[in-house]
Amino acid sequence: MLNQRKKVSIIGSGFVGSSCATWILARDLADICLIDVNEGLAKGKALDLYSASPNMSSDISVVGGSDYSLTENSSVIVITAGLTRKPGMSRSDLLLKNAEIMKDICQGIKPYNPSAIFIIVSNPLDAMVSLAHQILKIPRERILGMAGVLDSSRFKAFIAEKLRVSTKDISALVLGGHGDSMLPLINYTTVGGVPLSVLMSETEQKDIVERTKKGGEEIVSLLKTGSAHYAPALGVVEMLSAILKDQKRILACSALLESEYGERGVFVGVPCLLGGKGLEKIIEIPLNNEEEAQFKKSVKSVRDLVKEMNQLLKKS
Ligand code: LAC
Repeated sequence: MLNQRKKVSIIGSGFVGSSCATWILARDLADICLIDVNEGLAKGKALDLYSASPNMSSDISVVGGSDYSLTENSSVIVITAGLTRKPGMSRSDLLLKNAEIMKDICQGIKPYNPSAIFIIVSNPLDAMVSLAHQILKIPRERILGMAGVLDSSRFKAFIAEKLRVSTKDISALVLGGHGDSMLPLINYTTVGGVPLSVLMSETEQKDIVERTKKGGEEIVSLLKTGSAHYAPALGVVEMLSAILKDQKRILACSALLESEYGERGVFVGVPCLLGGKGLEKIIEIPLNNEEEAQFKKSVKSVRDLVKEMNQLLKKS
């Protein structure tokens, strides 16, 4: 065997996909395959990135194209393809268009990747990961959505900014769907082990929770022609590192509940133990009455979205 390195394929070579690839190279994580319907875009970005590798002292190979056979035997497949939101457009508006794109990708890629772990990034996130699971028909250990790592990162950044403390000391968790119903959990947030409630007034806490929930929209309305990509890409890379290096990290990811939190058959953001096998465990944490009610509401909004998606797909 010439090449024993692990391989990550990224479907969609837009800003999120190419940012992911940059960080995979920078962190020397795995060989990279960039796929896009626009073949020139994927090939061009792959060549550009590969040309950067000597200056990163990297031996990683980077290839690009539009043919799914290039992804054969990937360790992990990251799906970022889909339209992004324009100002005033909700994540749900993207539903049918992105569902059609997701369906095509999963059908095309499946035959070449019998044992890959999938990380879904396209929006609306929880619906897209659910659709990918319907098509791929793989165990839940091998399919996750990236959202909680991003939302928790925004939550931590806003806390660090407000308190003027190091982001390094903040441990925080965001549960629920990747949308307005997400739950940044104040009661599970600490700064150097000190509960957030000791350091911040309730009004300040509420403001930060609200800003976190609208974190993606705030960026969309500033950019006007796209959505966030730096923080989403690093969210993916945190998950990738945990899987490729078998780090056994506990990260918030969208995962399929099979009885946890009293729910079944729904993908939603929960704390997950990530390692070499993908999702190794879903961690159940105690929630107070208010948190539990909000979590249930978030699960219901994800279920409604999935139902709407499936109806739209049936009609199309
Ligand atoms: C965000 C989009 C990518 O939260 O969902 O920025």
